[in-house]
Amino acid sequence: MSKPAPEIVETLAAIVGAGNVLTGDDLASYEQDWRGRARGRALCVVRPGTTDEVARVVQACAAARVSLVPQGGNTGLVAGSVPDASGAQVVLSLRRMAALRAIDAQNMTITVEAGYILQALQDTADQAGFLFPLSLGAEGSCTIGGNLATNAGGTQVVRYGNARELCLGLEVVTAQGEVWDGLSGLRKDNTGYDLRDLYVGSEGTLGVITAATLRLYPKPAAQLTAWVAVDSLEQACTLLGMAHQHLAAGLTGFEVMNQFALGLVDKHYPHLRVPLWQQTAWCVLIEVSDAESEAHARGLFEQMLEAAMEQGVIADAIIAENMRQAHDLWHIRESITLAQVEEGFNVKHDVSIPISLIPEFVRAADAALSAAFEGIRFVNFGHLGDGNLHYNIQAPPGIDAKAFVAQHEDQVSAIVYDTVSQYRGSISAEHGIGELKLHKLPQHKSATALALMRSIKTALDPHNTLNPGRVLSA
Ligand code: FAD
Ligand code: MLT
Ligand code: ZN
Repeated sequence: MSKPAPEIVETLAAIVGAGNVLTGDDLASYEQDWRGRARGRALCVVRPGTTDEVARVVQACAAARVSLVPQGGNTGLVAGSVPDASGAQVVLSLRRMAALRAIDAQNMTITVEAGYILQALQDTADQAGFLFPLSLGAEGSCTIGGNLATNAGGTQVVRYGNARELCLGLEVVTAQGEVWDGLSGLRKDNTGYDLRDLYVGSEGTLGVITAATLRLYPKPAAQLTAWVAVDSLEQACTLLGMAHQHLAAGLTGFEVMNQFALGLVDKHYPHLRVPLWQQTAWCVLIEVSDAESEAHARGLFEQMLEAAMEQGVIADAIIAENMRQAHDLWHIRESITLAQVEEGFNVKHDVSIPISLIPEFVRAADAALSAAFEGIRFVNFGHLGDGNLHYNIQAPPGIDAKAFVAQHEDQVSAIVYDTVSQYRGSISAEHGIGELKLHKLPQHKSATALALMRSIKTALDPHNTLNPGRVLSA
């Protein structure tokens, strides 16, 4: 039998203090997702300040069979961090747990609590003389706990890997409310199953991440950014190959943006002055990081771009003159997500395809969608260096965007995901499954893989109290 609701709220208040249990009108920002695609209702929001408090909260909720939805910055794009509509779930906000626990300069690691904001972590690393390379548009609000729970990607994965590859150790509160201290900071540890990797990317369904030990890198001596116009995705892929050849480990970013995506930025944020976008079907943003000097980086960049120009791979290019210009170019790229929101509802996809097959995939998906929905528009951009495209769909001109999405989202996504499967791709490269992609997963993941995932969930969270109905259906 469940405890009556008020009793569990009182129990939680006794653990974290009444001021850290929110009810009633205070809940709105915790109950809806960033894009306005999902809105639930929570019994309350609980804001523990220590690992011990998290453990006691989880124990109390487990005993009362009340389910918990872990939440960091609530910037996720698959509606996995908001409660369902029942009004019976507790949102467990990790935002108060934002302490810096340690920096080990020789081991090149930093240990922070789960609520540490990503941008603050980059700044802390910088002040200590290091680079923490995870970087994404939501970095001013998302938390390291959320980044690890979603195995976030972003714009430097081509060199440094995604959140999983930056994580050496974790502290986790299990579904039973026990604390697993896996904050080892070891680069090698083959003592059985990798528990850390089980929790990374589990989207709050297996345990609550309370702290992490993360890799730090040396700061590059210089970083340079180029903005390049190319006629086709084939050429963008050829350019990527050249960038790997010429820049080697110096290549830290390789992003593509199609003309329609850049046109949305130009339309909604004209002051950003998008360069070259009207010249070609695609633009590419390339970043090189150099351990030697800016002059060395510029030399490598110029050599590569000259070769690409001679071979007819690129149509035009600019190299940022200084950090300010580089920042402005990246700001344009990061503004695509917001420009899409300004334009109205759209259908988002975050797909992963072998890089060599991306041009063919886009041709096939574009053709199938255009045949099904005349005049449909494609907002395509993303991390080509990782084979990860944000293949988003905007309603045909003159059609109400919200109504189009409500009526056709499922069919649009079915066409995209079927094409993804034809190319042996993945329906989620970096955003996760959450709730929005839950119903699509069984069609695109093998029965064997799903059964193994379900066994893990049952073993770790037998009463299904941690973020139920996310990743796997309840
Ligand atoms: P939340 O949104 O709060 O939660 C996300 C999921 O993690 C939920 O399932 C939640 O239950 C779980 N969770 C959160 N904290 C914990 C914890 N401590 N323990 C266990 N589970 C937890 N994502 C990318 O991968 N790459 C991008 O380039 C990118 N760009 C973005 C740009 C914009 C403008 C926006 C709005 C989002 C972007 N995202 C991107 C998506 C999002 O920012 C990431 O998924 C981010 O990692 C989520 O972090 P968060 O703290 O906001 O987590
Ligand atoms: C990005 O690459 O900008 C993010 O993943 C956000 C998005 O897909 O809109
Ligand atoms: Zn992305």
